Amino acid sequence: MSQTLTGEIVICMGSSCFSRGNKHSLELIKNYLKERGLEDTFRFRGAHCFGDCELGPVLIIDGIRYTKVQSDNITELLDNHFANH
Ligand code: FES
Repeated sequence: MSQTLTGEIVICMGSSCFSRGNKHSLELIKNYLKERGLEDTFRFRGAHCFGDCELGPVLIIDGIRYTKVQSDNITELLDNHFANH
């Protein structure tokens, strides 16, 4: 993975998304970035409710909104995002 990659991941920490999977996804994303040495090239932060609870859990990567995010395929989602953007 390129070390020139820069971007931002914003995970919804609103109660609906948090309780439906983002609590677990938060840890998985942290580990994903750490394992790939991307902690310093990617900003990863939590945010309050995006107002899309019915489509949650919600995750935004580089401005692209992912909905109904499942923690059990978060690695695949991140791999696909980085491969295609
Ligand atoms: S709690 Fe995530 S969009 Fe509302």
